[in-house]
Amino acid sequence: MAPNYVMIVALITFICFSLSFGDDAMLPTSHNNLIAKPNCNESCRNISIPFPFGMTPECILRDQFLVTCNHSLNPPQPFLGNSSIEITSISLAGQLNVLKLISRDCYRDGIRTNRTNLMISLPSLLTVNNTVNSFIAVGCDTYAIVQGRYTKFGAKIEYPSFITGCMSRCYSIDEDDTCSGVGCCKTSLPKGAWNVTITLRSYYNYNYTVMKNDLSCSYAFMVDQANFNFSKSYLSSLQNTKKLPLVLDWAVGEDKCKIAKTNSTAYACKSNTSYCHDDSNGYRCSCMQGYDGNPYLIDGCQDINECVDPQPDYRCVKNAICTNTDGNYTCTCHPDFSGDGYTECNRDNPQRKIQNIFLIIGITAGVALMVIIVFGWSYTAFQRRKMSMMKKRFFQENGGLVLLQRLKVEEGSSNTNTVKIFTADELEKATNGFDKDRVVGQGGFGTVYKGYLKDNCIVAIKKSKVIDRNQIEQFINEVLVLSQINHRNVVKLLGCCLETEVPLLVYEFISNGTLSEHLHDKLKASTLSLDIRLKVAAETAGVLSYLHSAAYPPIIHRDIKSVNILLDKNYTAKVSDFGASRLVPADQTELSTLVQGTLGYLDPEYLQTSQLTEKSDVYSFGVVLVELLTGRKALCFQRPEEERSLAQYFISSVEKGHLFDILDDNIVCDEGNVGQLKNAAVLAQRCLNVKGDDRPIMKEVAAELEAGSRLKHSWAQIDQHSEEIESLLHDTQPLGFGYEYSNKVSKLIV
Ligand SMILES: *[C@@H]1O[C@H](CO)[C@@H](O)[C@H](O)[C@H]1NC(C)=O
Ligand SMILES: *[C@@H]1O[C@H](CO)[C@@H](O)[C@H](O)[C@H]1NC(C)=O
Ligand SMILES: *[C@@H]1O[C@H](CO)[C@@H](O)[C@H](O)[C@H]1NC(C)=O
Ligand SMILES: *[C@@H]1O[C@H](CO)[C@@H](O)[C@H](O)[C@H]1NC(C)=O
Ligand SMILES: *[C@@H]1O[C@H](CO)[C@@H](O)[C@H](O)[C@H]1NC(C)=O
Ligand SMILES: *[C@@H]1O[C@H](CO)[C@@H](O)[C@H](O)[C@H]1NC(C)=O
Ligand SMILES: *[C@@H]1O[C@H](CO)[C@@H](O)[C@H](O)[C@H]1NC(C)=O
Ligand SMILES: *[C@@H]1O[C@H](CO)[C@@H](O)[C@H](O)[C@H]1NC(C)=O
Ligand SMILES: *[C@@H]1O[C@H](CO)[C@@H](O)[C@H](O)[C@H]1NC(C)=O
Ligand SMILES: *[C@@H]1O[C@H](CO)[C@@H](O)[C@H](O)[C@H]1NC(C)=O
Ligand SMILES: *[C@@H]1O[C@H](CO)[C@@H](O)[C@H](O)[C@H]1NC(C)=O
Ligand SMILES: *[C@@H]1O[C@H](CO)[C@@H](O)[C@H](O)[C@H]1NC(C)=O
Repeated sequence: MAPNYVMIVALITFICFSLSFGDDAMLPTSHNNLIAKPNCNESCRNISIPFPFGMTPECILRDQFLVTCNHSLNPPQPFLGNSSIEITSISLAGQLNVLKLISRDCYRDGIRTNRTNLMISLPSLLTVNNTVNSFIAVGCDTYAIVQGRYTKFGAKIEYPSFITGCMSRCYSIDEDDTCSGVGCCKTSLPKGAWNVTITLRSYYNYNYTVMKNDLSCSYAFMVDQANFNFSKSYLSSLQNTKKLPLVLDWAVGEDKCKIAKTNSTAYACKSNTSYCHDDSNGYRCSCMQGYDGNPYLIDGCQDINECVDPQPDYRCVKNAICTNTDGNYTCTCHPDFSGDGYTECNRDNPQRKIQNIFLIIGITAGVALMVIIVFGWSYTAFQRRKMSMMKKRFFQENGGLVLLQRLKVEEGSSNTNTVKIFTADELEKATNGFDKDRVVGQGGFGTVYKGYLKDNCIVAIKKSKVIDRNQIEQFINEVLVLSQINHRNVVKLLGCCLETEVPLLVYEFISNGTLSEHLHDKLKASTLSLDIRLKVAAETAGVLSYLHSAAYPPIIHRDIKSVNILLDKNYTAKVSDFGASRLVPADQTELSTLVQGTLGYLDPEYLQTSQLTEKSDVYSFGVVLVELLTGRKALCFQRPEEERSLAQYFISSVEKGHLFDILDDNIVCDEGNVGQLKNAAVLAQRCLNVKGDDRPIMKEVAAELEAGSRLKHSWAQIDQHSEEIESLLHDTQPLGFGYEYSNKVSKLIV
């Protein structure tokens, strides 16, 4: 496995290297600048001879461009044709730099010794450049004539001739080194001069010259002025100079481009990327911009790789990437830079980068947010649907349909006092989402919240603990029945909500708290006079009486205790918490139930037999009555053992005649109310009878309390009553109120 892998890697590496070498190797071959025709020598010595010039007839375009390379010379020298004009360079821009012999005319003692009058028989396409060259004659008895032909368009056949010259004499040789007529004269040449003949003459054969040398000479030549500065010394030193530089212009044809192009075989601009331009002598060719090479050859103009070989007009800025194209190039900026590549390439400033990053982050965040929103929306929609489904389910489970049905029936019976069905949302808003701060009470059956309905109505909302689903119908029944209890001393049930898992009950809100709070708070208890206490007792008894006798079917509250008796600001009692209440079917007087209630208030008989009767409420009421009289709690484990159960403690105390010892300190005993107190104590005693049958019915209790609170009549029969109770107690069987209770009872009995 491993060797194979290594081999593959090696192979890939090798291929990559080969390819890259191949590329490198190909570059030079593609960059082949043609100079001469194929199979033609490109140079003589180190002087390049570009086409249309050439050194053999096959290698030239026209006869005029023949160059003779004299290999007999050392080093070999190229000559123009078979002339003595020595070529130093040929440029495709249309110029030839040549060295040309100078003309001379020498005299000794008035006798001409030697004269070379030179004719430069330039072909018509080669002309003397008249801007850089001048005709110069040097000598002290000299006149020089230059004549020839010059090219002029429109007169192609009959070339016009020109003749000009200058003369120089030396009367003094103290002149400066300028060619200004003394020892040297110069004249300009006409444009396009060719086939030029120079003639040198002397007026006096140097008979009268100041300079009386052995040999006096005159010289005449056309010269590139940039390469020739006259000096007095030249009068003698030019003797040794054979050749002087001259600049010639050349054209490829005599015609103008327009005409030349008409004969495609003769047209010299052979490269398809070349162009023609007119010249004073004819026309020449050039490579198009972006190309370089020899325009006179097919494919002679080659694309310039400006990126490798930047031209003077190279426009890419410093940080740009140059890409070569055919005949041109493009400039682009590096990825990290901004700009067009031609005018600027600026490194992106970090701020912009950060901006970009922020932009990207922003977009990403936006997209993410949208996704979240969409998901969230669908999720909440799903949740909402689920919730509403749940609400529906709960409503059904909680017997909502049955209730609705029943309510409809009730409606028919023109009962205005019906239950309102609240929605879960309504109650949630009312209690600020069942806020902890809104809790006003907490009991065995649930939690009570204070709530504000939309119409600013203050309500108490009771959230029950888990409800027995099997008793739904009964619950509905209770709700209906309770809603119909229109008793001023019963906390009014306003409505319910069945959309939650456990039904919520909505009651009128009672402002002043529970009776328990008032009794067991020292400060509050001090304001509870006996009258108030008895009034509360009477009202509570009235309610129970009503429930037991007036309501149909009768209702057993089952959980009467001071905590469940609320007080409004006028100390009006309001009985609440019917959570444990039971409706007693018409044909029964007692009900078999699970023992339910609050220790301390619980009927011992009911505890033992599990048979619920109205008398259970009577017992519980008795405890409340005792609580009202004594201000003590129904059950308090902090007290000594015999005092723990208030009911028993009360009974034993009354039996021992200690009633006034256990009365609440806040109850002021005086002549006026002793009877009242005693009467109440006796009533309580009766209610607390262990045997239910021996307890008075609630109607009786209520009547007695009401009567007592209205008129404070004398209580003469108290003693008789107490005797009765005593005897009853002796009959009592030990009760199932736990071990402690029975112990107490037996103690009591003993
Ligand atoms: C080119 O020049 C060399 C000498 O430099 C000569 O031997 C050769 O024959 C020439 N070839 C042509 C085609 O003129
Ligand atoms: C040609 O060679 C000569 C010396 O042999 C040198 O002086 C001259 O500059 C060279 N010309 C070119 C164009 O290379
Ligand atoms: C080459 O130069 C030599 C010596 O100057 C001369 O004798 C000969 O004729 C020249 N050849 C040509 C072809 O010009
Ligand atoms: C130069 O060549 C021409 C023909 O091309 C000929 O007529 C002439 O005599 C030659 N001159 C010399 C000096 O060889
Ligand atoms: C004249 O020129 C010829 C050839 O250029 C030369 O041989 C001769 O010596 C010269 N005569 C004088 C007097 O310089
Ligand atoms: C003479 O040479 C100069 C410099 O090379 C050039 O600018 C000019 O065009 C030439 N003149 C003619 C008539 O070709
Ligand atoms: C060049 O000039 C000479 C002398 O003036 C003359 O004989 C010859 O015909 C001229 N050549 C041309 C082509 O005009
Ligand atoms: C120059 O002077 C010599 C003698 O000194 C004389 O023979 C000759 O004729 C003179 N030449 C001229 C043109 O005057
Ligand atoms: C001619 O003189 C000019 C300055 O006057 C100088 O720049 C140039 O090099 C001189 N040329 C020669 C060939 O001496
Ligand atoms: C075109 O040029 C060629 C070669 O120079 C010549 O033979 C031919 O006659 C010319 N054709 C025309 C139409 O001028
Ligand atoms: C020039 O000709 C060559 C083929 O010789 C061709 O590949 C190229 O595209 C041509 N260029 C233009 C600008 O026509
Ligand atoms: C080369 O490209 C530049 C920029 O695109 C343009 O301005 C120019 O004209 C082009 N040059 C040629 C010869 O096409």
